[in-house]
Amino acid sequence: MIEPSQRVQETKESYIRNILKVIQQPGMLSLAGGLPDASRFPKAILAQAAQHLADDPSIYQYGATEGYAPLRKWLIDSLALADDVMVTSGSQQALDLIARSYLNPGDQVLCEAPSYLGALQIFDLAQAKTLTVKSDSTGPDLDHLESMLSQNQIKLFYAVPDFQNPSSSCWTLEKRQGVALLCERFDVAFIEDAPYRELRYSGETLPSVSSLCKGQAFYMGSFSKIATPSMRVGFVMASQKLLEPLKKVKQASDLHSALPMQQMLLATITHPEFPAHLEQLKQHYCARRDVLVDALNRHLSDWIDFEVPEGGMFVWAKLKQHQAHDLAAKALDYQVAVVPGDEFWPSDASIDYQAIRLNFTALDDAQLEQAVERLAEVMSNS
Ligand SMILES: Cc1ncc(COP(=O)(O)O)c(C=O)c1O
Repeated sequence: MIEPSQRVQETKESYIRNILKVIQQPGMLSLAGGLPDASRFPKAILAQAAQHLADDPSIYQYGATEGYAPLRKWLIDSLALADDVMVTSGSQQALDLIARSYLNPGDQVLCEAPSYLGALQIFDLAQAKTLTVKSDSTGPDLDHLESMLSQNQIKLFYAVPDFQNPSSSCWTLEKRQGVALLCERFDVAFIEDAPYRELRYSGETLPSVSSLCKGQAFYMGSFSKIATPSMRVGFVMASQKLLEPLKKVKQASDLHSALPMQQMLLATITHPEFPAHLEQLKQHYCARRDVLVDALNRHLSDWIDFEVPEGGMFVWAKLKQHQAHDLAAKALDYQVAVVPGDEFWPSDASIDYQAIRLNFTALDDAQLEQAVERLAEVMSNS
């Protein structure tokens, strides 16, 4: 039998993927995933967008690696962050292209701890060395960031400043400005991953970090959380110079992302009813968040500490006495699934505290209440 490459063997597996079979059993309530609520996909808008697909035969031909021109123009005009954009197969591909374009084995990448697991996997596959900066719910510790940047040869700093997965932290304006300045000073490229940016339920929208250090940043956007994830349309916006190498890598990887999906996505997000859909989606998720928060306050306050997120899809619960992995394993016996926080730390980093990630978008109100009641049973019996 042939062996998988060393870099594949050394890449962390996804916890959720590993327990998928168990999660899918009947009766299981999963707070573990990060799925949008399928009942809220904008089906009427999508149906109209699909009808237009037949109108333009050119979208069935091979297309440009950079993406569908009208979608690229719409993105550049509406975001006004940089002079170039590449449409990718989900924002996940954008990060993979950045890593493959810029990282040599052993190169240093900086990220928050905890961080998005899908990003950690990409950095592992690129055989990069992943370092971490101290962070809290307001963003990275700027003094620590400065010392990390001055003492190491960091090439890329990857972060999710708006409603991070898993911690739901949202950087303050001061942190955004501080990070932008430091990235410019140390000539480090900032990778801003922003799939939850549009899902804000309260408070003011803050400027993206990329808008504060133009020319120095990659901004990765996604439509998975506000339209539908299965179309796999995302993008990366940056200066032409920064994006140039990605074009070569994408060409080698898949030539271009599916044109019909790009056209359908553009028709969806520019549909006159899309803003109303987004508004209703935010109200719906905000109500779900409140149901989960209320249940956590009533049932789990002896065992967890958490902050109420102003957006996104998760509550990040710090455990006062339990070990996250033991708790998550035992929870499966009680038919409730959660992700242990340890999974979101890079392999070499020391885990600062015990936590679990709780998703509030996939279960309905009654299921959220029941899931928390089950968790309370698990915690009181552990
Ligand atoms: C932080 C973060 N980045 C990127 C992605 C991938 O998004 P996409 O569906 O656009 O590939 C996710 C998906 O959950 C995510 O949480």
